[in-house]
Amino acid sequence: MNFPPNLLSLLHRTSKLVALTGAGVSQESGLRTFRDAQTGLWAQYKPEELASPEAFARDPKLIWDWYAWRREAVKAVRPNPGHYALAEIERRVPTFMLITQNVDGLHRMAGNHNVLELHGNIQRVRCSECSLVVETWDDDTESVPRCASCGGLLRPDVVWFGEALPRDQLEAAVEAARSCDIFFSIGTSGVVQPAASLAFAARNRGAVVVEINAEPTPLTAKADYVLQGRSGEILPELVAAVWGG
Ligand code: APR
Repeated sequence: MNFPPNLLSLLHRTSKLVALTGAGVSQESGLRTFRDAQTGLWAQYKPEELASPEAFARDPKLIWDWYAWRREAVKAVRPNPGHYALAEIERRVPTFMLITQNVDGLHRMAGNHNVLELHGNIQRVRCSECSLVVETWDDDTESVPRCASCGGLLRPDVVWFGEALPRDQLEAAVEAARSCDIFFSIGTSGVVQPAASLAFAARNRGAVVVEINAEPTPLTAKADYVLQGRSGEILPELVAAVWGG
């Protein structure tokens, strides 16, 4: 891809860069995005019907099984070149913050350290009553495991539709967006708040906004640079163009 020369020189001299990522960044690792149709066993459901406290209250076993299936799907995949390129950017830019809506943990696996997981992490499980985070649980297939401390039902430690984001993560994300020189929005449809407002918060403070996405989004018309295509291809090429192969 031929990159705008201004963008390359901007990146070369930037000191504060923020990247917001969505499911599109993990698509080339083999994980479906949220707005892709569900597959197989789950084809009959929309994520919104499964990823909510109401769904869990209605049928805890169905929701527990869906996340167990997703945990296995995540365990079976690896970061793709787009993830590794973002880890390289963290090594090259003095102040870099990666804000992700993804719960798959692939950014940390690829080597990023400054990661804000706005929507939690699917590999973590917590008690739905006392919020104790648990690393291990006994997985008999008949029932949803319970908290050893209070007996409450265990649930994935992710943010469901209608739930508040972890306050500390959101505040850090807004602060980072407001104080960066360049804001990347990568592989996200930009339809879920409050993550979708971060690019506009950055833009309002004078940051240059770059969108890397397979298709147009509500941000596209407002971005300073739009690189349309697959992040697993564009990001490594961009890193090579700015910092050398
Ligand atoms: N490279 C770049 N962009 C891609 C790629 C790719 N290889 N594949 C898909 N995309 C784009 C799609 O065009 C789409 O705009 O990634 C975007 C994925 O959008 P969504 O599926 O809506 O995922 P996301 O934006 O992360 O959803 C946000 O919504 O469902 C909730 O909590 C969930 O975190 C999720 C949030």
